[in-house]
Amino acid sequence: MSSPRARPLSGEGPVCLREPTDPAWAALAVERFDEVLADHAHCEKKAAANALSILQAYPEVPGLPAQMARLAREESAHLARVLELLEARGLQLGRDRGDRYAQGLQDLVRRTQPERRLDRLLVAAVIEARSCERLALLSEALPPGPLRRFYAELAQSEDGHQALFFRLAASAHGEEAARRRLDALLEAEAALIRARPIRPTIHG
Ligand SMILES: [Fe+2]
Ligand SMILES: [Fe+2]
Repeated sequence: MSSPRARPLSGEGPVCLREPTDPAWAALAVERFDEVLADHAHCEKKAAANALSILQAYPEVPGLPAQMARLAREESAHLARVLELLEARGLQLGRDRGDRYAQGLQDLVRRTQPERRLDRLLVAAVIEARSCERLALLSEALPPGPLRRFYAELAQSEDGHQALFFRLAASAHGEEAARRRLDALLEAEAALIRARPIRPTIHG
């Protein structure tokens, strides 16, 4: 299944989601925006932490350390901006309740190298692609104004990240092997999305 919305904004790279988000999700996200905002802050925090974790694990991949350092900075900047939005609304961040969608994908990461490195890079690419899709949908559902522009800007940024992670996977493991494994992960991701009810969170 495909739709224009399930594709990366830029059309760059092969990370094309197979299951578009239920159209009812965006309305729910706008209605319960405070909950989405807190969940979103935790997503950005985990994206920043994951970039540093990948840098720590795979410094041998050419270009990866500098790119992950830049990514961690960018995701931390997203986190700071989302925290400002929470504060402006008088909301507390609260504890991270976990992300069963992302956990379901992490469970697919194989244990032994070099498969593990390939899987970690590709799972990150898939999560970025889904984030990009959801943030773009949220932006379109919000009324015109700064918040709508903020989410459109973030969607663009996450789009760049899905392409970055795929490029790193392809350069370290070969384009063909990366595409083959991505294919399997995208199928699994679509099944996870179909299996989860829509919730006021970024991924569900
Ligand atoms: Fe981000
Ligand atoms: Fe990102």
